[in-house]
Amino acid sequence: MTETTRVCFVCLGNICRSPTAEAIMAHRLGFEDLGVHVEVESAGTGNWHVGHPPDERARDEAARRGVPMAGTARQFTADDFARFDIVLAMDTANMEALRGIAPDAAAADKVHLLREFDPAADGEMDVPDPYFGGSRGFTDVFDMVDRSITGLIGHIGSATAGE
Ligand code: 4NP
Repeated sequence: MTETTRVCFVCLGNICRSPTAEAIMAHRLGFEDLGVHVEVESAGTGNWHVGHPPDERARDEAARRGVPMAGTARQFTADDFARFDIVLAMDTANMEALRGIAPDAAAADKVHLLREFDPAADGEMDVPDPYFGGSRGFTDVFDMVDRSITGLIGHIGSATAGE
């Protein structure tokens, strides 16, 4: 039986950073075999943008890189912990918000920072919020998320190798 790993990327609004991560991961999974079935989603800890598509600047950056991006923003809830194996927060504030609503210690342990998987993180563990800045911020977000996902894919692949 094929093992399934369920991953959820979480930022604040679910319109900039986490849809970028979901899109990159889904795109990469389309042509990389991890030896495990992986399902990806994204969500926000906030509810301001629920029902909205990803920010146009995030969509433009993804299109420039050849990565399809779609989706509708939704808010992460305590019930979601049961649905995911790994919950990856884009920054420390969102990691703390997620751990704050985790129903138990096992759920809280599913929460990690995405940049734990970024080999270039160098102590800076947050993917900065690009919402109030210019398009350059979206380019930087894409690059650090892309690097992190390379690390994440290696982690999931090696964690499940030989099972
Ligand atoms: P995200 O960016 O968390 O990467 O989706 C943001 C989107 C909206 C807001 C903040 C961050 N906002 O304050 O509305």
